[in-house]
Amino acid sequence: MSRNIQPVTGMKDVLQAEIGVWQHVERTAAAVLAAYGYGEIRVPVVEHTELFKRAIGEYTDVVEKEMYTFTDLGGDSLTLRPEATAGVVRACISNGLLRGARLKLWCQGPMFRHEKPQKGRYRQFNQVDVEAIGFAGPDVDIELIALSARLWKLLGLTRVKLQINSLGTPEARRAYRELLTAYFRGHFAALDPDSQRRLEGNPLRILDSKVASTQAIVANAPVLTDHLDPESAAHFAELRAGLDALGIAYTVNPRLVRGLDYYSRTVFEWITDALGAQDAVCSGGRYDGLIAQMGGDATPAVGFAMGVERIVELVKIAGMEPKAPSPDVFVMAQGDTAQRSALQLAEQLRDAFPGRGVVVHCGQAKFKTQFRRADESGARLALIVGDDELARGVVALKPLRGADTTQTEHPVADLTARVDEFFRRST
Ligand code: HAM
Repeated sequence: MSRNIQPVTGMKDVLQAEIGVWQHVERTAAAVLAAYGYGEIRVPVVEHTELFKRAIGEYTDVVEKEMYTFTDLGGDSLTLRPEATAGVVRACISNGLLRGARLKLWCQGPMFRHEKPQKGRYRQFNQVDVEAIGFAGPDVDIELIALSARLWKLLGLTRVKLQINSLGTPEARRAYRELLTAYFRGHFAALDPDSQRRLEGNPLRILDSKVASTQAIVANAPVLTDHLDPESAAHFAELRAGLDALGIAYTVNPRLVRGLDYYSRTVFEWITDALGAQDAVCSGGRYDGLIAQMGGDATPAVGFAMGVERIVELVKIAGMEPKAPSPDVFVMAQGDTAQRSALQLAEQLRDAFPGRGVVVHCGQAKFKTQFRRADESGARLALIVGDDELARGVVALKPLRGADTTQTEHPVADLTARVDEFFRRST
């Protein structure tokens, strides 16, 4: 017996039963983004490996351990995108979109990280990614956070909390880094091996460590927000004042450093207590240095990405799934001629009532079975087509919901008018 082929570990199918929530989340996000003036772009899923190494940073978990990298048939080292920001920035540079432009962009799609799969953490996962390029902020930082808060409101999510921090400028961070390196050197032997390795490359990453013994050392480490440069401190103060003015609650988490290297100044994360260990549902921040570092004109930028799987889960936990749409008309038929006519009449109804759901029962079955399926479909009206009735030039209509479910016969020529009447009466 042949062995069934299983999906790749950490990659899951989204089946029909779940797709309604997915589409609801995606459509709501698309509508909110359009309303805030953000335009969608689409960038490739595969990029040169070098792009992610340079953008995300050599000493990050993502680049060190999690990338799906392969050599293609032409000998190029390519990588399935682990995130979207690097690709969006690359697209802006390669398409000559910068040059002082102000771009509000978003994109969505699958990302790939070879992480240890667990609830809420996948190797293929989806993000809605939003980038504001050419804005120094902090007004646009505030707008992005307000946009995400509005999305939670529209999706009915309450179990999300905002954490913010400022990483300062690269110069301020360099000075802080030295302080931090000196501090961690004093505790070198007690650090976990990963953190020991990162100490010289990027000690800020150690603040991110999930290892309990290292976290205990991190708890007493110097705090970045105490060492911000004056401009970043003012930027951060304005960010907080702006959020206060909009009534958006937050906590300042001085340990929030984010797992990617390109950030400066504002960083933020929406976290939830509803999903266990994978608590970040939406994260981002400012990356003022990245575009110049990637070879583009120096351009400030800020953005965030939300994990669609996690948001979908939150919508389900909140009981805010949209109701699956039911068809309006269920067309059933018995007999060869009737079957053909059923398809024609269904097309006629679709022409007459664009946007209405008209489902045809395909495949022969007894009327009793077809009625059961019509009922299960949630349709409001059944159109019944039989060979004998057709021979007399009539078809039958039967309301499936409500008090009066009397079946009535009508000339085929009157069908559209009768269905129209039914819709007018019942909506
Ligand atoms: P990130 O924090 O790596 O940031 O990912 C953003 C979000 O993607 C997370 O908050 C989480 O909801 C989701 N996510 C990340 N990894 C997984 C996973 N393995 N399984 C399921 N969901 C996951 C970025 O990717 C940045 N590019 C965000 C950004 C945009 N910063 C500026 N612009």
